[in-house]
Amino acid sequence: MESCCRSSMVWVVLFLFLGYGVEVSFSVYLDPQAQDQSSSIVTQVYRTAYHFQPPKNWINDPNGPMYYNGLYHFFYQYNPNAAVWGNIHWAHSVSVDLINWAPLDLALAPTDPFDAYGVWSGSATILPGDGPVILYTGISSENQQVQNVAVPTNLSDPLLRQWTKPDFNPLLAPVNGINSTLFRDPTTAWIAADGRWRIAVGAQIATKGMALLYRSADFVHWEMAASPLYSSSIPSPMWECPDFFPVLLKGREGLDTSANSEEVKHVLKMSLYLKDSDHYILGRYDEEKDIFVPDNATDDYQKWSRYDYGKFYASKTFFDPKKKRRILWGWLNESDSESDSIAKGWAGMQIVPRTIWLDSNGKQLLQWPVEEVNSLRRNEIHLHDLELKPAALYEIKGAKASQADVEVDFELPSLERAQLFDPTWEMDAPGLCSQEDASVQGGIGPFGLLVLASENLEEHTAVFFRIYKDQDQFKVLMCSDQRRSSLRPEIDKQVYGVFLDMDLEKEGKISLRTLIDHSVIENFGGGGRACITARVYPAFFLNASSTHIYMFNNGLESTVVRLKAWDMANARLNLKVEELSVEKQDF
Ligand SMILES: *[C@@H]1O[C@H](CO)[C@@H](O)[C@H](O)[C@H]1NC(C)=O
Ligand SMILES: *[C@@H]1O[C@H](CO)[C@@H](O)[C@H](O)[C@H]1NC(C)=O
Ligand SMILES: *[C@@H]1O[C@H](CO)[C@@H](O)[C@H](O)[C@H]1NC(C)=O
Ligand SMILES: *[C@@H]1O[C@H](CO)[C@@H](O)[C@H](O)[C@H]1NC(C)=O
Ligand SMILES: *[C@@H]1O[C@H](CO)[C@@H](O)[C@H](O)[C@H]1NC(C)=O
Repeated sequence: MESCCRSSMVWVVLFLFLGYGVEVSFSVYLDPQAQDQSSSIVTQVYRTAYHFQPPKNWINDPNGPMYYNGLYHFFYQYNPNAAVWGNIHWAHSVSVDLINWAPLDLALAPTDPFDAYGVWSGSATILPGDGPVILYTGISSENQQVQNVAVPTNLSDPLLRQWTKPDFNPLLAPVNGINSTLFRDPTTAWIAADGRWRIAVGAQIATKGMALLYRSADFVHWEMAASPLYSSSIPSPMWECPDFFPVLLKGREGLDTSANSEEVKHVLKMSLYLKDSDHYILGRYDEEKDIFVPDNATDDYQKWSRYDYGKFYASKTFFDPKKKRRILWGWLNESDSESDSIAKGWAGMQIVPRTIWLDSNGKQLLQWPVEEVNSLRRNEIHLHDLELKPAALYEIKGAKASQADVEVDFELPSLERAQLFDPTWEMDAPGLCSQEDASVQGGIGPFGLLVLASENLEEHTAVFFRIYKDQDQFKVLMCSDQRRSSLRPEIDKQVYGVFLDMDLEKEGKISLRTLIDHSVIENFGGGGRACITARVYPAFFLNASSTHIYMFNNGLESTVVRLKAWDMANARLNLKVEELSVEKQDF
């Protein structure tokens, strides 16, 4: 359907638009979502419509995701009593499509000596013939971090509502010099050729972050391996939430966590404690030595790739046997204050789950929102071959600008006027994004989107690209600049940026997909080569004024744009279990 029309194009000179005291007027598209709201953050203006969020209170890490007997299970770190961290339980929801969810009773509560002060993060493993088990970190009555197991109380219950913690817990205690405050987050287990199970557990020993390795023949008795799965050789923050899984060298298909062959690489992911960022290294899993061998042995975490260069932490993947894919979950923290969380009554959410696979160049992972989210798309807008001239500002009209999915291709007929790249910028993409922001004219770019924009553009988040020439290749800078996202001073508005690893001359275009959901903007650059997620809290939401999306080009060359955009319907996060239409043979 092509519902947008060139006659509604609005062109103005770009230097007017970034709010430097000049009023520019555009015809107003009234966002129905924005009406009827009083000016207080207690209203639901910042609440998302299609991201996973419980109705209230605090949520952080994704835990134990799995597919079992026709249902996707999702557990998460949850405080049932408040919108701040504390009193952590495992909450539990089930789904048939990863988008609409039915909440169940809390799965794990801190009730036993081996988890009296908290049931912290962990993973699920499906034991062939025996069904799923959960491994999680308990904070014991002695305030030590230990690793525990829980099993379904009734395996015949298709929803796996209740979980039992056997008396032989804990499975792993912090012995052998492990610091009992830096020992947590067991991975999904994998089984190697010798028939024994393995798990990795995050730790820090003598200033080195590491993924400790444990083995077991029966899933009850575990022994620590003499060498960790992998350890940083230089000081690093503690590695939380390690994740370890195989990816195929060719193709998008996902693999069971135990798969290993010449056809796969392995991914080791760690969440850097207090840095709030998730990093990964690609390499091989040497089963004989039982260690991970990185392709490129750099232990400087600043050089590791990240799943997401914005607000994103404590992620975890699982293998989905139903659609043969590996799926990524990740926690999106707030960027407003704790007192705002208390006023809102909620804090935190999850990304739209992403399919994750290895790029054909073998050097990076690619990510894309699971196809099921497309079922929420409504009212397609389509623009063909629109020339976005230098200094252009173009409003994308007709979309529900606070709740949308936008896919744009920026075609680049010529790269000749690209600015020269200074190699000292290599390690600081966010710094370059702040310095050469959307308002700074470039050669090729900046071009991109202004999203969650107020009518006068006083508030907006700029998501954009800028091309540099670096000897005989081109560098693509991708940015998400939150500095003008809100007039509210107390919000964290840091600038995010990354260089895209792509052959621009060969491809001739850069794609951007942006999922906009009230206070979340998830960006996928270059077909999922780099992701940047931002949390934003525009003040104009509180005034119930209309929300807008624009495209802009502040370079010297035109870019030709193809765009599709959709309104997004609300996901249903509060389904009753009877409403889950599970295929009969599975249930
Ligand atoms: C186990 O679950 C099944 C299926 O829901 C149910 O019929 C059975 O009564 C449950 N058993 C117990 C001991 O609760
Ligand atoms: C253990 O780690 C904590 C930080 O969580 C640190 O304060 C403490 O000194 C460490 N203990 C030892 C014995 O290294
Ligand atoms: C979560 O966000 C709050 C508010 O911005 C911040 O104080 C806290 O450090 C964040 N935590 C993590 C782990 O990102
Ligand atoms: C490893 O480093 C080399 C040299 O910098 C580079 O050419 C290669 O692409 C890197 N491989 C991966 C998997 O990152
Ligand atoms: C909200 O409305 C007030 C009063 O009309 C106005 O002064 C303020 O500028 C508006 N703020 C935004 C961000 O639109």
